[in-house]
Amino acid sequence: MRAVVLVGGFGTRLRPLTNQIPKPMLPIGHRPMIERLVNRLGRGGVTEVVLALGFKPEPFMEAFPGGRCGDVKLTYAVEPAPLDTGGAIKFAANEAGIDSTFVVANGDVLTDLDVGELVAAHRRREAEATLHLIGVEDPSAFGVVALGDSDRITDFVEKPAPGTEPSNLINAGTYVFEPSVLDRIPDNERVSIERSTFPLLVEAGCLYGHATQDYWIDAGRPDLYRAANLDLLVGGRVNDHCEAVSRTATVDAAAIILNSIIGDHAVVAPGARIVDSVLLPGAHVGSAATVEASLVMGRVGEGARVDASMVGADGVVADGAVLTAGTVPEVPAS
Ligand code: GDD
Ligand code: MG
Repeated sequence: MRAVVLVGGFGTRLRPLTNQIPKPMLPIGHRPMIERLVNRLGRGGVTEVVLALGFKPEPFMEAFPGGRCGDVKLTYAVEPAPLDTGGAIKFAANEAGIDSTFVVANGDVLTDLDVGELVAAHRRREAEATLHLIGVEDPSAFGVVALGDSDRITDFVEKPAPGTEPSNLINAGTYVFEPSVLDRIPDNERVSIERSTFPLLVEAGCLYGHATQDYWIDAGRPDLYRAANLDLLVGGRVNDHCEAVSRTATVDAAAIILNSIIGDHAVVAPGARIVDSVLLPGAHVGSAATVEASLVMGRVGEGARVDASMVGADGVVADGAVLTAGTVPEVPAS
């Protein structure tokens, strides 16, 4: 079975980390997010993934030069201009010549969902499209569904105003589609699958949901990207786990590392304290500095204090400086 994986977004909520690296290439437990996703799709029976790319395709092509990720074959569909989720699915499916049941996944979703079970549920219902659903406390930041009899979706609202959500069940970003879904999406146009196509499928009565209680996180926000990393340390995931400190990192024996991940080639100097944080590849934390609840790619100076913040690849926190709930370099409001 083939899958289209959407990886063409701008990752704006993770800037400045995504200034140089596209979101799906950011590491989760020392490995690119996309690699963990593709491996999981592979375990669920997917043999070929079409990466729907627009923005910065090069890092993907360089990371998987042989056109393979583990046992899964990788191909690329590069949009001439961002076509939004629906337009990107249509473009990628056309490029790959998809003409049978296929899987679609958002590139920033980390979950223990068994994709094989989602496909089986789709076939049982003879659905045109089946969405993986997850129950969450605050659904307003997601696509939200109302579920009727026999798992038929009777309403789909993308990012409803808080208090107006039809239920607590959200679109978890993994789908199974019949190729006929593609006929509902115009060619070479910006189309949101969530705002345009899902409502059409609801109207036609052929959109179904498959709710599970699997581990699930959309790693597109800083707090959740950090959580998706740290969750791999505690052993709560079914197939994914990681070591706290990369073998290529240099961590002084007199540094303190608590509930944190230290990425490839990162350096932590004597007396530094890293708590509830992720140091990304190449990060440098000076002596006696403190990093707490933060994401760091760049440099934190000696004795500096970084709390609930992001430091991008070319970001520098000066010696002795304090950064609280900030970003370095600063991110212009968009
Ligand atoms: N190729 C391509 N082109 N990909 C795109 C484009 C585009 O123009 N725009 C967005 N994407 C990709 C992103 O890279 C991401 O992998 C995926 O589409 C979803 O975009 P996000 O920006 O992460 O959307 P979201 O998190 O706000 O909402 C989506 O995911 C939620 C679950 O995590 C929606 O699908 C919601 O309905 C859903 O609940
Ligand atoms: Mg997202």
